[in-house]
Parts: sequence; structure tokens; C-alpha cells
Amino acid sequence: MSKMVIEGGRRLDGLVRVHGSKNAVLPILAATVLNGGTNIIHDCPGLKDVYSSIEILKGLGCKAAWEGSTVIIDSGGIATHYIPEALMREMRSSIIFLGAIISRCRKATISMPGGCELGPRPIDLHLKAFRQLGIAIDEAHGYITCNVDEIKCDDIHLDFPSVGATENIMLVAALANGVTTVSNAAKEPEIVDLQSYLNKMGAKISGAGTSVITIEGVSALGGVEHRVIPDRIVAATYLSAAAATGGSVTITNVIPAHLQPVTSALKECGCGLRQEKDAMTITVGDRPRPVDFIRTLPHPGFPTDAQPPVMSALSVAAGTSVIAENMFENRYKHVPELNRMGADIKVDGRVAVIRGVKRLSGAKTSATDLRGAAALIIAGLNAEGVTEVEGLCHLDRGYEFFEVGLAGLGANIKRVE
Ligand code: EPZ
Repeated sequence: MSKMVIEGGRRLDGLVRVHGSKNAVLPILAATVLNGGTNIIHDCPGLKDVYSSIEILKGLGCKAAWEGSTVIIDSGGIATHYIPEALMREMRSSIIFLGAIISRCRKATISMPGGCELGPRPIDLHLKAFRQLGIAIDEAHGYITCNVDEIKCDDIHLDFPSVGATENIMLVAALANGVTTVSNAAKEPEIVDLQSYLNKMGAKISGAGTSVITIEGVSALGGVEHRVIPDRIVAATYLSAAAATGGSVTITNVIPAHLQPVTSALKECGCGLRQEKDAMTITVGDRPRPVDFIRTLPHPGFPTDAQPPVMSALSVAAGTSVIAENMFENRYKHVPELNRMGADIKVDGRVAVIRGVKRLSGAKTSATDLRGAAALIIAGLNAEGVTEVEGLCHLDRGYEFFEVGLAGLGANIKRVE
């Protein structure tokens, strides 16, 4: 099993480019099923979840090819509406294919997506919306089978602004005969990118980024060319690494507006942040200051995916910070590992109290989820001595060449097979 080996104590200085967004490209890859054409997607990150999505597309009958960081998907030959269980289990977000397959084939059979390390990942909001659009859904033996003659249109209200449910409704309504609205829709930037992609195809969708999205169904969609937005969580992770080590780091290929909840917290830590058009420079003296209270919330609140990396930075702050993780019930699994490195973090339910220590100490650690893996690596960058982080299969789901980027900033880090 490969592991990351880090010799901590080095300040980070220099420039690193942020890759395309995992959480934008996954629904966009699903959306290629809708148009039966050739789709050219630029700045597609080389991540496990992207590779899994491409395997699902190929299993459906699509052709896929890479040219550098551009992926070309030809969805002309969709031959089945079925996704094998093995592929569904590889990543939880494969549920996003359900809406796209129903829209193209009027039927779909997929296995229930696995839970994940963050706790149960229900899909009741997705299925409730589909039923409201006239889709018959049968759940039996671990499989979901959907059938519909003609997709209805309706005004859907989401009980919770679910990112995936919002995206699935956009995908299933894009080719329906009429207008569908989604109120209490999720407002994440990745949903705006999906709307942009779909509208390039010929869809008529508006309101993404607000809590009401309107989808006016059209009769056909065509293949398109698109560049994926930058990954705001990867950007937040590099900023958190600089906050934990001190130094001056410029990250390029960022959209500063997407980072505001995180940069606001880092400013409270006393970090200097200078924004240019599509770049940002963070300058950190010695220890960061604590942040009174961070609560994770749907966008534009503080993003849950940035909680673990920012917690690592706060674990060496000159004071006590409090975090409330409101989005997932089990997203503190990195805490015991951080405490093994000398952090002083107490968790009670959804609340974590982080009493900053001057410096962490290197240890052998193991990650059990994607952002937790990044958090342990950041902790290792600060720690005195050597830190090992196992569980890189989780890291590789969301970070492309993370150790290369950090080494380029001066970190002593290497991946050992
Ligand atoms: C997306 O997951 C992201 N994944 C997650 O990023 C991110 O943490 C999450 O949104 C919240 O921002 C992708 O975009 C691929 P949700 P998603 O539906 O769509 C509950 C990462 O690290 N819920 O907004 O699954 C759910 O249990 C990943 O990159 C229901 O109850 O998130 C959770 O508590 C992790 N019923 C909350 O809503 C449903 O039908 C948010 O889930 C759906 C969701």
C-alpha cells in the first residue's frame, strides 16, 4: 500500500496551479449522456472518481479518449441503461448518472450507491423529485429501477438544498416537454458550471447559483466543448497548507469569489490574502490566529469539504477554535489521527473544539476519507519529524499530483509505493 512520507517544518513558498473541479466535472461527464454527440471537456482532472465515471460512460456504450487534460466523450452509441454494481460502488456520486440515463433512455437500472466514509448518503431527495416528475421507481434487492414514458414537468421544492439532487433534476428535466422549477436548490458554483455546460448543449436553464432554478425542456441537445471551473476545495487545501506552515504561496487558476467563505476564515487567522484576476497569494507569518466559530453550511456558507484541511491549520493556531460540522454526521475521522500527532481536539457530536498547539509531532497515520487524507498531509507539513500518511486511495479521488504541487512549494514530501 502506497503512503506519503513527509518531513515537516518547511515553510511553503512559490506558485502552484489548481486543477479543474472534481465536483463540477462529475455531473458534466454524466450530462454527456444527454446529447448523443461529441463532447470535448478541457481541464479534466486525472482523479479516481473521474476515471470511474469514464468507465461508467464506456459501460453505457460511449467512446472516451484523453488528449492531455482534455477528455473527449462520444455518447452517440448508448447501448444500455444499466450500470453494474461494481462501478456504482466505486464512488458514491455515481447516483448523478441516474437522471442522465433516464432522460436519454426513459429507463435506468442502477444499484443503490454505497454509503461512504462520511456516514449514510441517502438519496431520498433525488427519488422524491423523480417520482414528482412521473418516473416510476422500484427499489428492490439493492437495485433501483426507473421507468417513464414521458417525463412530466412540475415545481419541485427540495427539503434540503442537496447538490446531487439539484443536479439530477436539471439532468432529467433538460429534455422534458415543458418547464420544471427547483426551489431551495443548492447554489454551489459547480451547479452553475453544469448549467453553463447544459446551455451550451442547447438546454434552456436559468437561475443556477440562486435558490430557484428553471429548466425549460428542449427537444434535442448537441455535443459541446467546455472548460471545467477550477477546484475551489483543492485551492482551499493549498491555502490551508500555507496557513499551517507559514510562507507565501500563490495559487493560480482560481475564482476568488468561489473561495470567499474559506478566505474569510483565513483572514480571521491573520493570513494576508491578495487576489488577482484568477490567482491568489496567501502570506503567513508565524502561527495562525484561531477562528472563533466555523459552521459548515450549503454554499455560500463555509464548505464542508474544506473543514478537514482548515482544521489542520487551526490545530497549530495560537488559541482555541470551534467548528460545527452540519453537513455530514461522520466527518471528524481525521481528528483521532491529528491528536496522535499532538493536536488537542475534542469532538462532541457535530462540534469540534480545537485548542491550538505550537507544533505537531510526526507520526504514522492513516486516512479513511478524501479530505481527511489532505488534512493529515497538511499536519505532516507542520509536524516536527517524519509523518507517514496511508490511505492514499482516498486522496487520489480528489487531488491530482498533490505531493508534486506541495514539493514544488518547498515541502519535503514523497509518495512511497
Ligand atoms: C456533493 O455531495 C459533493 N460531491 C460533496 O463533496 C460535498 O461535500 C456535498 O455536495 C456538500 O457540498 C460531489 O459533488 C460529487 P448533498 P452530495 O446531496 O451531492 C443529505 C468531496 O469531498 N441528503 O448536498 O452527495 C446528505 O446526507 C465530496 O468532494 C439527503 O438527506 O451532497 C448530506 O447530509 C464529499 N438526502 C446533505 O444532504 C438526499 O437525497 C448534503 O448532501 C441527498 C442528500
